[in-house]
Amino acid sequence: MNQIEANPRHVPEIVDYVVDRLMAEGYADLSDRSDLHLYQDRSLHRQMMEGKIEHTEDVVCATDDIIREMGGRIEGSEEEWNSYQAGAIARLHDIGRFTEITKYGTFNSRVTGFDHSKDGALIFDFLFGNSDEGRILERLGCDLQVIEEAISYHSVKDYRGNNQYVYLIRDADKLALLRRLDFQEDVINRDQNLAAEGYSADVVRQVLADHTSVSHGTVLTKADSLIRLFAFLLNINFDATKGLLLRSAFLPELIKKFQEYSLPNEVIKAMINVVVEEWNKTAKTTTFTRQDFPLVE
Ligand SMILES: [Fe+2]
Repeated sequence: MNQIEANPRHVPEIVDYVVDRLMAEGYADLSDRSDLHLYQDRSLHRQMMEGKIEHTEDVVCATDDIIREMGGRIEGSEEEWNSYQAGAIARLHDIGRFTEITKYGTFNSRVTGFDHSKDGALIFDFLFGNSDEGRILERLGCDLQVIEEAISYHSVKDYRGNNQYVYLIRDADKLALLRRLDFQEDVINRDQNLAAEGYSADVVRQVLADHTSVSHGTVLTKADSLIRLFAFLLNINFDATKGLLLRSAFLPELIKKFQEYSLPNEVIKAMINVVVEEWNKTAKTTTFTRQDFPLVE
């Protein structure tokens, strides 16, 4: 294994450079703002931005892990991933979050109505479209259109297009979030609006009957929040990602949490069965079974 393979981070240097510069300017901008209306505590903004920077590095890492798990080729095809293009997308996918925090002081789009994905695509176009920076990316074999589309569609509810990099960033984003169960729990525990006890039948129903992601508005308790996190599993595209999820610490830990919140084992088992069913619908290389998941007893 050579040096480059030993270090899996594949973000083009020009992307790191441009984003770092933008964020340094963002910080400067943030320190001048007195008109942020939702939270007045600027140290909280800084903390939130740092959380996103960490998440972004997690996504960079998850992207590389998924590509490596596929042996470098797009699942179900002979075509090779361009890992620099994938790395650029991972590093840039949440770039719109910086506009959001600077403008609104929160990442809660239900409050702001702000679409950080579409804004991120605009920022990408502004920074890399028809510029020397963009041409450097093109020399690495990157297609700017593909990158822009992946940023734009990374968080829409459903994507059915042909851009494989959209599917990749969507998987990497979820894998990165699920691998940080502790962090998610901290966020959940800080949320004053969530009840400590119980779970909502409607939240469970969305998973068991609709097989969909859990809509934010229906989450009322801490257990609901964890179920919503679990429901990310229903929308995983690649078998490689599914395999990585099965091997991560996330599933056994989450099941333990569910039991601590008194979610009946029957419900936990039924939710796992739904995931197995959904995973097999999109499976290209593997058949998944209940036995691949942790035992619930
Ligand atoms: Fe995002």
